[in-house]
Amino acid sequence: MKSDAMQATELDMTALPAHVAVIMDGNGRWAQKKLLNRVKGHEKGADTVRMVVRTCREIGISFLTLYAFSTENWQRPRAEVSALMGLLKKFLISERQEMVANNICFGVIGQRERLPVEVQAEIQRTRDATRTNTGMHLNLALSYGSRSEIVRAVQNIAQQVQNGELSVDAIDEDVLARHLYTAGVPDPELLIRTSGEMRISNFLLWQIAYSEIAVTDTLWPDFTKAELIQILKDYQHRDRRFGRI
Ligand code: IPE
Ligand code: IPE
Ligand code: MG
Repeated sequence: MKSDAMQATELDMTALPAHVAVIMDGNGRWAQKKLLNRVKGHEKGADTVRMVVRTCREIGISFLTLYAFSTENWQRPRAEVSALMGLLKKFLISERQEMVANNICFGVIGQRERLPVEVQAEIQRTRDATRTNTGMHLNLALSYGSRSEIVRAVQNIAQQVQNGELSVDAIDEDVLARHLYTAGVPDPELLIRTSGEMRISNFLLWQIAYSEIAVTDTLWPDFTKAELIQILKDYQHRDRRFGRI
């Protein structure tokens, strides 16, 4: 547990991470513990998404990336996948006006083309409605897998070389980063994972090279604003050395 001294310190608004990434995990276990269907956990988890988006917007986080559905999650039972897609569609419709009102610019990283067409349509509507917003960039990772993202980037770069548009010598870290879904987005300073698993599960492998990692045992539906603020405070006490001394 955190010391009382740390609990009492204020969040330093001048030293916030610009980009927070979150692996939202534990919906299924939350439901199972209550002897409910896993889908009930996803429904409750959607409330936590709303709270986290609102909180990050309020305190002034510039970029928030939420891992909502991985390339591997397609292997879940069909009923669960379709329930998740239904919830996603509902979320996009119900939150659109709030995103507009709160100056949030919405985006998606991942294989959008694999999503059901009606979800793709709601994504497009939300993107169009929030395109010029400047308050916070909210990116949902949907059908996202970091390895497939990197393969896609390499294919695009190789195509440019083949077309004579790029020389091999010119390929550097910036070129690769510009071909990822996250082009133009700063790397996350902070990665949060709920539900206690100490793994990355194919999320932002390139981008988290130097991210601070915070894992909490709290299951995603139980995650609170107070805990989010505490994680941000803890982050502010970390010594980020980047290989130096
Ligand atoms: C996270 O919760 C949501 C998704 C991965 C879609 P889980 O569904 O993975 O919940 P657990 O890990 O089984 O508890
Ligand atoms: C990671 O959670 C993916 C998302 C949160 C969307 P998983 O529950 O799919 O990851 P594993 O299976 O525990 O590694
Ligand atoms: Mg999980």
